Amino acid sequence: MKYLVTGAAGFIGSAVVEKLTSAGHEVVGIDNLNDYYDVNLKHARLKRIEHGQFLFKQVDLADRVAMQSLFEESQFDRVIHLAAQAGVRYSLENPYAYADSNLTGHLNILEGCRQTNVKHLIYASSSSVYGLNAKVPFETSDSVDHPVSLYAATKKANELMSHSYSHLYDIPTTGLRFFTVYGSWGRPDMAPFIFTKKILDGDTIDINNNGDMWRDFTHVDDIVEGVVRIADVVPAKNADWSVEAGTPANSSAPYSVYNIGHGSPISLMDFVKAIEDELGIEAKKNFREMQPGDVYQTYADTQDLFAATGYKPKVGIKKGVAEFITWYKDFYNK
Ligand SMILES: NC(=O)c1ccc[n+]([C@@H]2O[C@H](COP(=O)([O-])OP(=O)(O)OC[C@H]3O[C@@H](n4cnc5c(N)ncnc54)[C@H](O)[C@@H]3O)[C@@H](O)[C@H]2O)c1
Repeated sequence: MKYLVTGAAGFIGSAVVEKLTSAGHEVVGIDNLNDYYDVNLKHARLKRIEHGQFLFKQVDLADRVAMQSLFEESQFDRVIHLAAQAGVRYSLENPYAYADSNLTGHLNILEGCRQTNVKHLIYASSSSVYGLNAKVPFETSDSVDHPVSLYAATKKANELMSHSYSHLYDIPTTGLRFFTVYGSWGRPDMAPFIFTKKILDGDTIDINNNGDMWRDFTHVDDIVEGVVRIADVVPAKNADWSVEAGTPANSSAPYSVYNIGHGSPISLMDFVKAIEDELGIEAKKNFREMQPGDVYQTYADTQDLFAATGYKPKVGIKKGVAEFITWYKDFYNK
């Protein structure tokens, strides 16, 4: 199989490339290597996945001409689209980055799939689409009409855009709502990384909503296994589906949406404790209010993912945090 993986220098994308090439697939990876966070980390991830079966191209998703050439040059069997402007908080500071990468960029991916008849597009959505939904666990049948950040709104838009292309052009598309991913080679803008760095440097960590928050932390190894398995589950058209009798996660078009998370939320304070225990250092903590764009809780219902792939996430918080910290200390010589 020939895959296109976008965001190949990113946290999840680089791990997906590694998994695909080690299974013998041919992979083209793209990334624009932007400096939203440390570019050296992106280069180091690329160095780690250098492989005869992997070709890297520096391309910006929003560059319509370059994206068209990319699709014309290679006939991809599958596209795993993970590049995006990520981060909830940054979407309050730089909203246009989200329009370019997540809206124009997603459209360029859909057009590439349409023009070259790609057999399956798998793309990253996010647990943030659940927004104001307070019912747990989050099910794909729940309302996702009330995002609380522009980031979340662009991820929901990606699902809607994908549905229209699945419907119009029979392109099989699968959206994956990722729940707080952590682990080796993780993102410097996310809490597990920030907490670990600050605790080791003796700095104070901010505890949002005074610690009263829950996140369905999901280890990257589990995410990668789920992504690669779901790539083999190609959604089909279903003439029996209707809005009245069906679920929003499927359609008469070849379209699916899944939650991909651990399925067991951890309180923020327990997560901090797991890091403190692993480091053997007690964190200096600054308790503060809920931050704009944040949600109180995330909790994935993963029954559909299990039914489709037979896979349930396995890595628990203790093992996952230990794995992350081992990588962090080694990579940063701490
Ligand atoms: N990590 C999480 O917890 C999480 C949770 C929910 C959803 N997601 C989504 O999963 C996907 C992967 O996330 P990640 O954690 O690996 O993030 P990441 O930022 O590490 O990876 C994204 C990569 O995309 C690249 N990129 C951004 N804009 C681009 C553009 N215009 N053109 C080309 N490349 C571009 C970046 O340089 C980066 O390397 C993203 O779509 C993200 O929104 C992640």
